[in-house]
Amino acid sequence: MERKDVLVPEADLARQRDFQENIRRMFEGRQAHPRACVDTFGCQQNVADGQKLMGMLQACGFTLTDEPKEADLVILNTCAIREHAEDRVFGNLGILTHTKKEDPEQVIALCGCMAQEARVVKRIRESYRHVDLVFGPQALWKFPELLWQVYETHGRVFSVADEHGTIAEGIPVVREKGVKAWVSIMYGCNNFCSYCIVPYVRGRERSRDPQAVLAEVRALVEAGYKDITLLGQNVNSYGNDLDTGYHFPDLLADIDQIPGEYLIRFMSSHPKDATRHLFDVMAASRHIARQLHLPVQSGNDRVLHEMNRRYTRQQYLDLVDYAKRVMPGLVLTSDIIIGFPGETEAEAMDTVSLVEEVGFDALFTFIYSPRPGTKAAAMPDPVSREEKQKWFDKLLEVQNAISAKLHAAYVGKTQRVLVDGESGDADYPLTARTEGNRLVRLKGDKALMGQFIDVTITGSNTWALYGEAV
Ligand code: 5AD
Ligand code: SF4
Repeated sequence: MERKDVLVPEADLARQRDFQENIRRMFEGRQAHPRACVDTFGCQQNVADGQKLMGMLQACGFTLTDEPKEADLVILNTCAIREHAEDRVFGNLGILTHTKKEDPEQVIALCGCMAQEARVVKRIRESYRHVDLVFGPQALWKFPELLWQVYETHGRVFSVADEHGTIAEGIPVVREKGVKAWVSIMYGCNNFCSYCIVPYVRGRERSRDPQAVLAEVRALVEAGYKDITLLGQNVNSYGNDLDTGYHFPDLLADIDQIPGEYLIRFMSSHPKDATRHLFDVMAASRHIARQLHLPVQSGNDRVLHEMNRRYTRQQYLDLVDYAKRVMPGLVLTSDIIIGFPGETEAEAMDTVSLVEEVGFDALFTFIYSPRPGTKAAAMPDPVSREEKQKWFDKLLEVQNAISAKLHAAYVGKTQRVLVDGESGDADYPLTARTEGNRLVRLKGDKALMGQFIDVTITGSNTWALYGEAV
């Protein structure tokens, strides 16, 4: 696909701004402040998409509310990664039949990854007739036009074609107030891990222009954001589609030159594309956090092969070894799937032993969930849920002990942290993050919010550190 087909032309974006204006004018004639509720499920990429939706909604004249009952427009921004996430969305859709009964004018929309699944769209068409608008991640930038169609036609609108993914620059964004911000640097995924639905719903990889990313990060730093996370399904393949020889480590090195007091994080990284050069760039930088989320998924070579991960246990261990060597104190986290089709107990225990060997600071752990349409969903899966749960519990037990031990080693030490929130706990009213993104519950004054400060770590458990300002 040509690069010019990937970038949405400015003329098309201008048309969307016209639709925003149409909607704004329509409401001016009808009522003071239409309200919209955006309910986002799933990963940070989806959170970032939700922030763009909110930006477009504000441009259409909506104010935002968290309460579906009082909203003129409710949008469920959905996740398809596991069955549980989908079940929750269908549960919420069920509840919305009641709000719509009370307010028949209410518009209900469903977007995000589920909206790009033919199976889901069929079910919505047939059994959830109160849903007015359905659009997939590829159509996000056209949201103003789609919403206008709903108001104009009073009919149902579906924009769920399997169109190729695009990049739309300059969509307005409503960010969380405070110190943290998310920046998508690329969209889509080319990897087709055999269990994963993402490549089917988010299309092929496409990287934003480096200058657009740099300008966005610079503006965020200037606006006072201090903890900025670069997002992509696999940031390590950033730039491959640009054909300019410019890759993720180059982007990191250029971002690092932006003056200011801030930290850069990124996720996710695919181990097959993580290089020693990347770790060298991180180690030499001033602003890139010594933190790495490097999903391993399994510690067994046969399972890794069946997952189509394209690295071995040993290659992963060597990579991590190098990263730790050039970045002492590196905080390392990972994703693990237990119970992949055909996995045996011995193979699951290989994953547990890898976890022990690496000593991750924390893990995101999942029991395998079949996703219709993926390769793994067609594989025989004879092991019972109960048996998988036992393996899973073993993994958690091992990891919790490791996390507790690593956290205990912080006690008595001084750490530079970024104060990022309030906890509601009278004894430790503030929350903060270490450079490695470990949570610190903090004694101290609210005035410290948004600042980097030195704290003494006074206590710890499996999930958090406790501290006091020095
Ligand atoms: N079942 C369970 N976990 C999954 N993940 C992705 N697909 C599935 C699935 N079908 C997990 C992987 C991935 C994380 C975002 O979600 O561990 O890294
Ligand atoms: Fe899914 Fe693999 Fe792509 Fe991650 S890299 S989104 S797990 S296919």
